[in-house]
Amino acid sequence: MEYNKIQLGAILSFIFLVQNIQGWGEEGHAITCKIAQARLTEAAADAVKQLLPAYANNDLSSVCTWADRVKFSLRWTSALHFADTPPKLCNFQYARDCKDLNGVKDRCVVGAINNYTTQLLDYGKDTQHNLTQALLFLSHYMGDVHQPLHTGFTTDKGGNTIDVHWYTRKQNLHHVWDANIIETAEERFYDNNIDEYFKDIQKNITKTWSDEVADWEACSSDETTCPNVYASEGVKDACQYAYKDAPEDATLEDDYFLSRLPIISLRLAQGGVRLAATLNRIFQ
Ligand SMILES: *[C@@H]1O[C@H](CO)[C@@H](O)[C@H](O)[C@H]1NC(C)=O
Ligand SMILES: *[C@@H]1O[C@H](CO)[C@@H](O)[C@H](O)[C@H]1NC(C)=O
Ligand SMILES: *[C@@H]1O[C@H](CO)[C@@H](O)[C@H](O)[C@H]1NC(C)=O
Ligand SMILES: [Zn+2]
Repeated sequence: MEYNKIQLGAILSFIFLVQNIQGWGEEGHAITCKIAQARLTEAAADAVKQLLPAYANNDLSSVCTWADRVKFSLRWTSALHFADTPPKLCNFQYARDCKDLNGVKDRCVVGAINNYTTQLLDYGKDTQHNLTQALLFLSHYMGDVHQPLHTGFTTDKGGNTIDVHWYTRKQNLHHVWDANIIETAEERFYDNNIDEYFKDIQKNITKTWSDEVADWEACSSDETTCPNVYASEGVKDACQYAYKDAPEDATLEDDYFLSRLPIISLRLAQGGVRLAATLNRIFQ
């Protein structure tokens, strides 16, 4: 009995660990997708409804972490969650940076967003692509590309190898940005209610940031989506906010939390707005 409990504990913590290696946590992705689905045009909302698996009940946010769950059965997808860059350059260059660990080009989150956007343009036509999967991948990767440490440095795996303390708890810096800042905000300001945080961000999209939203949505001329821009902003945020004052062994507390939370809220908002804008352009 005791042995089983220990085994179960070990398995659960393993699952917990591997689940948190790459990607906004469950909540960050859910918020991005909720923001997006509420902004869809009628045509896009209808296409999304058609493409979502039945078990999602037309709720995109319920399947936004599907791409994380299949990372281990579909091993080839694991490089598609991030786009790390050489350390300290603080810029993203597609030709230099969008490749997997074996150097195969296009295999990064930016390449994946372009890939699944192009596939979805086949909607309504004869296609060999699985457009349900394309939608779930796109919705997830659009979140990931907005998490600054998904465009972090190759040398520390986007902060995964930087051990810090989040208040009293041992964490790595990547996980602090995936989940801890969001969780602490929910505990402290939103009564542990993810919906309240989502609503607060949504309110700011129509108030605080209303003048900027059109810029977030825009891509140059004929592009359906522009993940190069999203990744470039992400690397800058990684340098300016995520890595800054967070070296190995640092203890991150209120100073770090309170100054970085606005960046996270902004990135969640931009991810949601841009996912909607991309889907609205796809399904015109
Ligand atoms: C594009 O999507 C297809 C189908 O899921 C996949 O086989 C291919 O590896 C993807 N490539 C990139 C760069 O995402
Ligand atoms: C497309 O992918 C989904 C999710 O993996 C799967 O459930 C579905 O059966 C696939 N559809 C086809 C036609 O292969
Ligand atoms: C919303 O905007 C207000 C005013 O700028 C700010 O104080 C608040 O922290 C913002 N909340 C979120 C979740 O962005
Ligand atoms: Zn991910």
